[in-house]
This record gives sequence, structure tokens and C-alpha cells, in this order.
Amino acid sequence: MIELYLDSADIEQVRRFNLCLPLTGVTTNPSILANSGAGLTKVLPALAEVLGPNARFHAQVVSPTVEGMLAEAKQLNQLPYNMVVKVPATETGLSAVKLIKKEGILVLATAIYSAQQGFLAALCGADYLAPYVNRIDAMGADGVGVVADLQHLLNQHGLESKILAASFKNTQQVMDVMKLGIGAVTLPPDVAAQMFSHPAVQPAVEQFSQDWQAVFADKLSFES
Ligand code: G3P
Repeated sequence: MIELYLDSADIEQVRRFNLCLPLTGVTTNPSILANSGAGLTKVLPALAEVLGPNARFHAQVVSPTVEGMLAEAKQLNQLPYNMVVKVPATETGLSAVKLIKKEGILVLATAIYSAQQGFLAALCGADYLAPYVNRIDAMGADGVGVVADLQHLLNQHGLESKILAASFKNTQQVMDVMKLGIGAVTLPPDVAAQMFSHPAVQPAVEQFSQDWQAVFADKLSFES
């Protein structure tokens, strides 16, 4: 089954969507944490309390060097949660990914803007690959096309890395990548809300209610 994540450090939004969606966990990045004003030491325990002990958390290293990323990955992996270490798929980051995988740590290669970049990260052993769909679209390129090419390459070469598509601004982008059979998506709260909202839904529900009450008043279904 596809893994569904919320791309947010907002505890109340995670609580809200965990009630109605089958969340595998939460993804964050340095910008999300900086904007929330709270770091991992505060956010992770709160998220774990909401999501339970099996939730998976993707958290990104901020060190600029290979050695720093490796050391940071080891520290993140020692946290008492189901952690995936996010590493930017740069030249430095891919060097770190190779070393981090030797430690048996789960890795997500992030900041992927092209299929070839994601493919190299997969060859280096990354467990997850995060192409930035909307950011690619915003540059005048084809975010869904990059995801399609990357999934094709993974299939062709028998690689088990999962695409965890990120950076969405609308539900069409989400639907288009989910139709490709990718392994995971992470949604910002506003796009998660759009996924089950449609202008025709509420009027339909209200019509049911009106029709029912006209005949059965306050009776419940099994009382009719
Ligand atoms: O972590 C990557 C993803 O969160 C980027 O999303 O909306 O900043 O493009 P966005």
C-alpha cells in the first residue's frame, strides 16, 4: 500500500489528519522546522504522542560535510522513534548516503529535481527518493514527468528504492504521481484537505439530511 505522510511540523494539523487519514508518519525539512519555531527535540515527542509508536518520521541532516552528515545520521538514528534520515542528493550528500547505508540506517535522498539525480541516489542505496514535484513545475519543467521517468528507471533496473514524492500545491499533481504506482507521497496540510473536498459533497450530504428529516424527523437509521 502506498505510504501517506503529512509534510508538516504542525502538531494540530497532524492530529487533525491522523483522525481521518491512514498516515504512515510525518516528513519535515529544515525550513518546515524553522518556520514552526520548534526543533526536533520538541516536535518529535509531540508527534509520537499523536501518531503512536509505529509512526515513521523523516528528518533531514543540516551538516554541510560528508563526515558531519554521517555523524548527524547516526545521532538521528539513535532517537527512540522510527526514523528515516533525509540527505540532500548532492555530490556531498550522495557520498554521505553511501556511508550512512553501511551503518544500516534508513535514508531518504531529498531535493531531487531530475530523474538522473534520483536514479543515482537509488544506486547509492537510498531507501526513499523525494522528487520535488511542484518546485520542478514552477521552474517550467515537468514534475510528474520526472517522477514517471524515475519510477521507470527504478523498474527497469530492479531497484527497490521507493519514490516519496514531495512538494505539492494541488491535488492534480498528487493524483498524477499516485497513478504512476509510486511508493509514497507527503502532503502539506492544505493539499491534504483539498484531497477530500469537492464543492458537490456538502450539498449532497445536506440533501440526504433534509430528505430524511422530512419523513423520519430525528429518528436514527436503525430506528426507521
Ligand atoms: O521536503 C520537501 C518538500 O517539503 C518541499 O515542499 O512546498 O517547500 O516545495 P515545498
